[in-house]
This record gives sequence, C-alpha cells and structure tokens, in this order.
Amino acid sequence: MHQTAVVLDFGSQVTQLIARRVRECGVFCEILPCTAPLERILQSSPVGVILSGGPDSVYAPGAPTVDRGLFAADIPILGICYGMQLTAYLNGGQVAAAAEREYGRTSMTVVAEDPLFANLPPEQTVWMSHGDRIEEIPGAEVVARSANCPLAAVRIPAIRFHGVQFHPEVVHTEHGAAIIRNWLFNVAGCRGDWQMGSFIDEEIKAIRQAVGDDHVILGLSGGVDSSVAAVLLAKAIGKQLHCVFVNNGVLRKHEAEDVQAMFAEHVGTDLVYVDASQRFLDKLAGVADPEQKRKIIGAEFVAVFKDVAEDIKARHAATGAEVKFLAQGTLYPDVIESQSVYGGPASVIKSHHNVGGLPKDLGLGLVEPFRFLFKDEVRRIGEELGLPDSVVWRQPFPGPGLAVRILGDITAEKVRVLQEADWIMRQELEKAGLMREIWQSLVVLTPIKTVGVMGDERTYENVAAIRAITSTDGMTADWFRMPYEVLDIMANRIINEVRGINRVVYDISSKPPATIEWE
Ligand code: XMP
Repeated sequence: MHQTAVVLDFGSQVTQLIARRVRECGVFCEILPCTAPLERILQSSPVGVILSGGPDSVYAPGAPTVDRGLFAADIPILGICYGMQLTAYLNGGQVAAAAEREYGRTSMTVVAEDPLFANLPPEQTVWMSHGDRIEEIPGAEVVARSANCPLAAVRIPAIRFHGVQFHPEVVHTEHGAAIIRNWLFNVAGCRGDWQMGSFIDEEIKAIRQAVGDDHVILGLSGGVDSSVAAVLLAKAIGKQLHCVFVNNGVLRKHEAEDVQAMFAEHVGTDLVYVDASQRFLDKLAGVADPEQKRKIIGAEFVAVFKDVAEDIKARHAATGAEVKFLAQGTLYPDVIESQSVYGGPASVIKSHHNVGGLPKDLGLGLVEPFRFLFKDEVRRIGEELGLPDSVVWRQPFPGPGLAVRILGDITAEKVRVLQEADWIMRQELEKAGLMREIWQSLVVLTPIKTVGVMGDERTYENVAAIRAITSTDGMTADWFRMPYEVLDIMANRIINEVRGINRVVYDISSKPPATIEWE
C-alpha cells in the first residue's frame, strides 16, 4: 500500500496541476471535490490534505467550503490561495476584497525559518492570482511576505496548517515544485513510495474490472494519447479491443499510412480503417465558424463510430460478446477547457470534440485512463510501455485536424495546399533537429490574399502563418524562438513549392492570451 495525499478541489482551473506536482514527487494523489464529506476524506487515510485555489470569495453566499472538523483531524494541511483564505475564514480570521487585485509574478521574501522553504533562497519570485486578501488569521505565524501581501505564507502550528497566498503549482512560481516537495516530505512525512509503473498496473486492473468480458472500441488518431491508450488497453484486454481510425479528410500528408504502419508494429490488435474523407468534406462545405466546424466533425465522428460499432457488434454477436465501451485518450487539459470538473464556474474556452457529447450519442460507457493526466505524464507511460520515441514524442494534433487551421470555409483544394505547407514545415524542423524542443508546430492557411511577384508574373495568393510553441502541458505556451535560418528555408520552400501561398508570416503570440490553434 502506498501513502495518499488528498487534494480538495475548490474549482480552480489548475487543481490538476497540484495533483501532478504531487505525483512528480512520487506520492500518490487523489482529488476529491470540496463537497466530499469529512468521513470520505478520512477514508483515504491521507498523509496530508491540500486545499486548492478557487474562483469564489470565501465570504460570498454559497461559496464552497469544507467541514471544520478537518482542522481538528490532526492531519497536515496546505492551503493554496482560496484554500488559505477559507482556512482563515473558518478559523475566526478576516478576509476582504483587496484594494488592488494581485495578478502575475511577484517578489516574495521568506521572513521566518520553516520546513516549507528549506534549502530555498529567501528572495523568490512567486505567481499570485487573487482579488481577496487575508487581513488576519488567529494563531498564525508569518513565514513570507510580499510588498502587497503581508501574509504571503503562514503556518498555524495548532492545526498543523501551512498556507500560501501564491500558487506553487504553476511553473511561474520559481521554486514552486520544491515548495510542494518540501511540504510533502518535510511537513507531511511522505516517503515517495509511488511511481508511474504503479499507475500502469492500477489502470490495467481498473480497466479489466470495468470492462469484464465486454468489448471496447478505441478511437485512434495516431497521436500520443490515443496510441498510448491503445497499447495500455491492448495490454489490459487484448482481443476485446477494437481500434478505429477514421480518415476525416483533414489529416496531415501521409498520416493515414503512417498511423496504420505504427499500429501494426506496436499495438497489433484489431484495427478498422475508415476512409470517410468525402463524407466529412461534404458536411464541412461552406462552414466558416470554428465552433461549427468542431461540432460538425464531432457529430460526424459519432456517426462513423456508430456504424463501425454496429459492424463490430455484428461480427462478435456469434460469440455473444457485446461492445459496451468507448476508450479515448482524453487528457486533463481537454476536460478542463470544456467543462469544470467540479461543476463550478470554470469557463468553457473551446468545445474540444473528443469530450462533449460522444458517450450519450453512442450509448457506450467511457474508458478514459488519462482523464486526469497531462501530456508529458502520458509520454512517460508510453516510454514505460516500450513505445519508441517516434510515437511518444509525436506532437499533439487536434481532433478536428487541419479544419481548424484553415481559416474560413474548407475545400479539398485548401486542404491540399495546407498539407503541402505543413509537410515542408515538418521536414525542415526534423532536419534542423528541433522537433523535441518544440511542443507543437503548425501552419495556418489564412483567407488573406496578397500580391506577390514570381519570375515576371504577378501572383495574388494566400498568406500562410507558421506557428511553433513550447509548453509543458498545453495549458500555457510560449512562442518558439525559431532560428532565422530555419524560418528562411521554410518560408522559401513553402512559397516556391506550394501553389496557392505567396507569403509566409511567423506567429509570435503566447498562450494566454492567444490559444495554440488559431481557431
Ligand atoms: P488551444 O488552441 O486550445 O490548444 O490552445 C490546446 C491544445 O489542444 C489542441 N486542440 C484540440 N484537440 N480537439 C482536440 O482533440 C480540439 O477541438 C482541439 N482544439 C485544440 C491543440 O492542438 C493544442 O495541442
């Protein structure tokens, strides 16, 4: 048995980042909604409990709260932002709207010795994001302060509590990971007795238990998430797994062949390949709105899946086997940007098609082993499962494919133009050895036409935008400082070799405020 740390979720967009930091320290982590009764929390015998941030004000009517009994349970507690404010509020302190919202990087000074900051410098950069501030917490000792926040970190020994107003879970907090590690090992007494290998074993058991003798369909895109999911599922249930790869007409050049070759080599169970390109392109004709495109592609996927599921059902009917589940490589960022896990007010940014709607329409249960993981964690699982670098380090590619990279309506000709440009970009990044450094690279075909000159001819063709970003989880991203020489070769080749593009620009926006895709 391994130790368990519990994170209570108060609706922050980054709660899963806390869990991920804890897992990185080799400590098993369970996330519970803040509404979980105290008995449920204690049932997990937590070595420590982390109270997450959240979008509410603790003093607002109906704001999420926690059973006060938690503070009397003799368990180390770490309160982050809202979690710290709530602890102050429930323990006789004062929380009020701050005169100025504090948002972004802030300098903080550690003013008292504390295990939370062991072996860390007294001056640190931390990430703040709060509109309320704690005026007073009875029994608290100040551990760190910043110019705007006299209680940036505190401890209340009587209730084994540490609180931080900043967010140690985000990468912008310089020593955030070390602060969480310090709390786990120096305060909560963790041993670090959990690894990714344990995740694989536990998931295999859970999948076998959930699926029983039934059959599962897995939508394979060829990306890291669905490929690793396929290998994991194949290990868990072997012949009960049927993978479906749909060519939706907006794939990259050579993708359909590459995915089938990869599958044969590394998964080897049943694969159904459906070339539905014409069907998708017909449905997408004349549609320019990004959300509409996503919805159409999502709905068409459901339709294709339904057909395939019926086929597979019919094939297995003779043996009495039933197809009851749909497996997907959905990751946590897909979930959080589509809906709030705790049902709270986290806003919908894009309706990623692989999350909304599918199970209801298909009448299949969902198997989503990576629902609470981040991309790099799935990559580590892929490596543990023996997948080669070419699969594990593949860049993410959106379900709606090139459809969200062709601004405006989609035609087969525009798809061809973008496929060619994208192919050149990928070739040049490979040649320059930059693929591993870059999280995602893409070409966007814009509807803007500009004048150019080729030989003695005037051209009037589209502008293509090249985008490359670095990221650790896709939730935030920085534009990649691409060497000029590589940009130069790519731009030249695209303009010369791709009929339909006569100008190339480079996108230097980061996320936020931009998103990775243009649509
Ligand atoms: P954004 O553009 O939201 O992208 O910053 C974050 C990551 O998600 C991918 N993405 C999608 N993936 N269905 C998907 O499966 C979608 O509709 C979708 N939209 C964006 C995007 O490529 C990036 O990796």
